[in-house]
Amino acid sequence: MSQPDTAALIETARKAADQAYCPYSNYPVGAALLAEDGRVFTGCNVENASYGLTICAERVAITGAVAQGARKFVALALAAGQDQPATPCGACLQVLVEFCPADMPVSFAPLSGGTVRTLPLGDFLPHAFRLEQGQ
Ligand code: THU
Repeated sequence: MSQPDTAALIETARKAADQAYCPYSNYPVGAALLAEDGRVFTGCNVENASYGLTICAERVAITGAVAQGARKFVALALAAGQDQPATPCGACLQVLVEFCPADMPVSFAPLSGGTVRTLPLGDFLPHAFRLEQGQ
């Protein structure tokens, strides 16, 4: 699956949400990140009693991917919410921008059913922070 199959990627993200550890928010999130080499890396949110240490599903997915040697990505799917789907938070967007192109499709949908929407990553964070060349 190196060409984005959006429906399949959303289903993978939904399955990943089943692993969410979210006893504080009761808000499971699943992410599925398709690498250029065809591998799909999943993530779920992992909460913590000291709330601020919670890690979002997207960052679990991308850090796991990088740790396993993937650095180029072609699509992301996110599954969260009953009726209203979630979009990636600002912190996750900044981490995604480090590795993913601005035209990478980001699809998001509720945990089951509902509409799947897709927008390019650059639409979510058009002015992401980047270090100047040569730093
Ligand atoms: N969450 C994510 O996993 N991804 C996001 O982009 C937004 C929020 C998680 C964090 C927390 O566990 C729960 O959703 C409620 O904020």
